[in-house]
Amino acid sequence: MTQDELKKAVALAALEYVPEGEVIGVGTGSTANFFIDGLAGMRARITGAVASSEASAARLAAHGIPLFDLNEVESLSVYVDGADEIDASFAMIKGGGAALTREKIVAAVAKKFVCIADASKKVPVLGKFPLPVEVIPLARAQVTRALAALGGRPVWREGVITDNGNVIIDVHGLAIEQPVEFEARINQIVGVVTNGLFAQRPADVLLLGTPQGVETFSR
Ligand code: A5P
Repeated sequence: MTQDELKKAVALAALEYVPEGEVIGVGTGSTANFFIDGLAGMRARITGAVASSEASAARLAAHGIPLFDLNEVESLSVYVDGADEIDASFAMIKGGGAALTREKIVAAVAKKFVCIADASKKVPVLGKFPLPVEVIPLARAQVTRALAALGGRPVWREGVITDNGNVIIDVHGLAIEQPVEFEARINQIVGVVTNGLFAQRPADVLLLGTPQGVETFSR
């Protein structure tokens, strides 16, 4: 099976976690896109969706799925999104698509985070995938120096502006043994909006696409 076929399989498996008559949280990226396309088939059974990016909002709207502002909903029972890496404790690196901040906010509201990922995303230690950090533009050079002092190799993702008007710095060459502490440490750098470690709020369910089929893991 191709990586895209694995992504599609987990995305469609996640439809089982969609509660009827509710607003759900929807992530960003190629795996989330397969989920959105699958969700279109059951749009009459949900109230609508909160999107974690402008791109996902546009895709949901194109399918006629009603969009809600996160400030309009009191709670979300489920949030479905992909990941760039996920470890055994369900901590993740996210933000390859630059949507990490909105993803983290929507995930924080949701009672259950369902991570949909192909098998290549499961890793023993996070950090081979460069860790995205969203930064206020004025602080880019200062944050780059601070990130380098933490041991990584920060690289500005030139030409990319997030949905929030900020820039992304990707930190290469990390081996993140203590993701909860590292997430907090980076977020303390002045000028950082947030970073792509989802360790303080890990996934609750992992649907992993393997050539043998979709495997389900729960915390
Ligand atoms: C978007 O900013 C990311 O967090 C994505 O969820 C992550 O990069 C996974 O993307 P794919 O599903 O495209 O691999």
